[in-house]
Amino acid sequence: MFKSVISRVILLNIMLLALGIGTLSLFHLHREQSHHIAATQKSARLLLATIEKSIFNSMRLGNSAEVQAILELVGHSHALEGVRIFSPSGQILKSADATEIGQWASPQDFNLFQQNAKEGVFQSKSGPRVLSMIRPIVSDERCFKCHGQGRKVIGVLNMNFSLSEMYTQLREISQMFVVSTLAIIALLAAGISYIMIRLLQRPLDQITRSMWQVEEGNLTVRLAPKNNDEVGRLMLGFNAMVGNLEVAQKELQNLHYQQMERADRLASIGEMAAGLAHEIKNPLAGISGAISVLADDHNEEDPRKDIFGQIQDQIGRLDKTVNDLLYFGRPGEPEFSYADINNLLKQTLLFVAQHPEARNIGRVEELTSQLPPVWVDQKQIQQVLLNICINALQAMDGSGMLSVKTLTVHHDDKIWVRAEIRDNGPGMAPAVLEQIFTPFYTTKTQGTGLCLPICRQLMENNGGTLQVESQLGRGSCFILELPVLENVEILDDGRIGVL
Ligand SMILES: Nc1ncnc2c1ncn2[C@@H]1O[C@H](COP(=O)(O)OP(=O)(O)OP(=O)(O)O)[C@@H](O)[C@H]1O
Ligand SMILES: [Mg+2]
Repeated sequence: MFKSVISRVILLNIMLLALGIGTLSLFHLHREQSHHIAATQKSARLLLATIEKSIFNSMRLGNSAEVQAILELVGHSHALEGVRIFSPSGQILKSADATEIGQWASPQDFNLFQQNAKEGVFQSKSGPRVLSMIRPIVSDERCFKCHGQGRKVIGVLNMNFSLSEMYTQLREISQMFVVSTLAIIALLAAGISYIMIRLLQRPLDQITRSMWQVEEGNLTVRLAPKNNDEVGRLMLGFNAMVGNLEVAQKELQNLHYQQMERADRLASIGEMAAGLAHEIKNPLAGISGAISVLADDHNEEDPRKDIFGQIQDQIGRLDKTVNDLLYFGRPGEPEFSYADINNLLKQTLLFVAQHPEARNIGRVEELTSQLPPVWVDQKQIQQVLLNICINALQAMDGSGMLSVKTLTVHHDDKIWVRAEIRDNGPGMAPAVLEQIFTPFYTTKTQGTGLCLPICRQLMENNGGTLQVESQLGRGSCFILELPVLENVEILDDGRIGVL
């Protein structure tokens, strides 16, 4: 029940209120009771003083019958439980209740006299609590005539003032305090609960419901803040957040559609290219054969022999383009085996060194030893490495530095073997960089623009990635990453073991 913060705040508030108001009420009740008791005592003392005075006057005149009459008169008052005079030994001499005369005073009243106390509160014989008051009647020369000279105290005036009315009033006051305290607490608790529920609970419930709707994918929900307070600002923040999410989702959807369209286009271009290439390849082979036959008919000195050579070169270029197109259309299924990227790179560099454009190119090799093996099609990866190296040579245009580096990296909960191929050629402008993986994009007069798209496709077919970093005027770096399978280890002699 008290799981929500608001209900806990309400409960705490009510408890604190009850404690505060309760303590205050108790304090006031106590004060009220003290006042009441003091007022009752004061009126009792006043009454006793009046009785005392009347009795003394009558006694001084030696009129003991009048003393009895006075006692009986005042004894009618409902505030008195009893009024009497008893002897120092405790025997009742006069009393408002004539039947008491000759009997002994109650032990509580007599004890008060003996202890020289003036007042005490007791339970009376008939039930209600009484305030018992004692006034010793001290003898002076006016009393000697009737009471003789021997005794200092000739009697004790004793009055039992009923406290039942006072206690009834105290009870009523207490009840009134309790009822009013409870009423105030209930009123305040209801007020606090209403405010908390109206100002906090309802708007928070509204926000929670809207969040669920957002979670279910409805990004059109918006909240309407009623006040410009913290909750209102929270709602505005929520609206802004959902608004941004909606915009981002639309952008993502657009991008997704664009990508789908592009993938569709690429797939049809690939199909078309492969079909075209197939159609071109056979006649091209026929033309090449025919040219060879024609070339054989001319001796070496014939100036036309050179022209045949040039035709064969151009046919060779066409053949490469057609092969690339075919490969782009249908790259073929990879044949997987464990491979050491360091070895593949070394073989590629050996091959690249034979390239005529590599004569003035320096080489830096930074190959991490004991590189974990990768599960790839070695021919395809070698083709990627070679294409990237040839692009680098072409970019450096005869002189420069080709750096290769291998290492392992950790990301996406996997270990990857990374190969970096860097050149210090002219680099690429951001606009060029954006397009180099688009089929047929080339900046070269004799390029097909298919190598890099093929390379990326091959890397992806082998479970890897191909990225590029480039800065205009500083060179480019192609980064290949291939995942390391978990069940392999490097043996002590450096060979690769499969677990
Ligand atoms: N190392 C590099 N430095 C600068 N630009 C590069 C580099 N590698 C590639 N490029 C740019 O990327 C373009 C596309 O390269 P890609 O290899 O796909 O095609 P290409 O080299 O133009 O032609 P081909 O299909 O004959 O290789 C290149 O034309 C070139 O502008
Ligand atoms: Mg190229």
